[in-house]
Amino acid sequence: MNPNHDLPNHFELLGTDGAARTGRLTTPHGVVRTPAFMPVGTAGAMKGMHWREVRDAGADIVLGNTYHLMLRPSAERIAALGGLQKFTGWNGPMLTDSGGFQVMSLSDLRKVTENAVTFRSHIDGAKVELSPERSIEVQRLLGSDIAMQMDECVRLPAERADIERAMQLSLRWAERSKRAFESAPDGYMLFGIVQGGDIPQLRHESAQGLVAIGFHGYAIGGLAVGEPQAVMLAMIDETAPLLPKQRPRYLMGVGTPDDILEAVKRGIDMFDCVMPTRNGRHGVAFTRFGQVNLRNARHADDPRPLDEESSWPSARNCARAYLHHLVKAGETLGAMLLSEINIAYYQFLMQGIRDAIAQGRFDEFYQRTRADWARGDI
Ligand code: GUN
Repeated sequence: MNPNHDLPNHFELLGTDGAARTGRLTTPHGVVRTPAFMPVGTAGAMKGMHWREVRDAGADIVLGNTYHLMLRPSAERIAALGGLQKFTGWNGPMLTDSGGFQVMSLSDLRKVTENAVTFRSHIDGAKVELSPERSIEVQRLLGSDIAMQMDECVRLPAERADIERAMQLSLRWAERSKRAFESAPDGYMLFGIVQGGDIPQLRHESAQGLVAIGFHGYAIGGLAVGEPQAVMLAMIDETAPLLPKQRPRYLMGVGTPDDILEAVKRGIDMFDCVMPTRNGRHGVAFTRFGQVNLRNARHADDPRPLDEESSWPSARNCARAYLHHLVKAGETLGAMLLSEINIAYYQFLMQGIRDAIAQGRFDEFYQRTRADWARGDI
């Protein structure tokens, strides 16, 4: 029997166009339209933005991180204060990453054993242990609508033996995560994470193993970790067809607008990335005509806005010369404006993608969007 049939499905596929899909994912805190881009609010805050702007920009769901929140202010404290939605005031759907990936990228002195990851906190150096069971417990305490299994992600390039060991460990952790999640109330979801690096056979084994365990949705992890885009896309092509059609698919930590467009074309429904807010803080805007670096002196006397046709007020109204000045002067407002402009552009892209798939014109949308990016900012 297919274990996926035992689990309630909260995802409704509304339309497809080639391999691209559009749908609705219903969570305890609201509906997510897919394909969806989830802005990253790592430590319970969207850097440089009010939640109301995140919502107004069109985001249905945001991402938080187990690793950061368990260290500060602690999952138990957030639970006592009513959960992450109430604590932050976001009050909408929230997905939390499991912690394994952040331990790898942020903490010192980590040790991975069969049972758990042990690491030193990047905040105060305290020794902390994170097991698959504790990761699920933390995510349940946070009140996350979608919890992620704990996994081990390997940076590329890597040796096959290392990729295979991490993939097999992640599969065993997937089983333990699922067991730990069994007592969660109806409506809350747990996603498994496919690993396997850049090796098709390992990707197949991982996807098949996860589908045999059965999850509410499936993520593809271990990508955008140092490999060329062509390798990432090839791994999506190897993996997506093995995942159940009726379940949501999430490509973790991706990416540029171009990565997203290419992944949607290959059947991905959900994305997250720090890029729009991080690049915004560094003076870079994402627009219909590609990325614009506002630090560049060519903007110093330019009265034009970034995009006079944008539906987002600051992209339509603020002079490039003003954004350039704010960025050069190190004003907080520069980072704030560029963060909201970028999140609004990503959401504009996702809305365009959803409409195009629903109307059976994804190919045309894909070609036109790429032509606009290629035209560049003139
Ligand atoms: N974020 C980006 N990539 C990954 C991954 O492979 N695993 C997890 N847990 N989070 C990620």
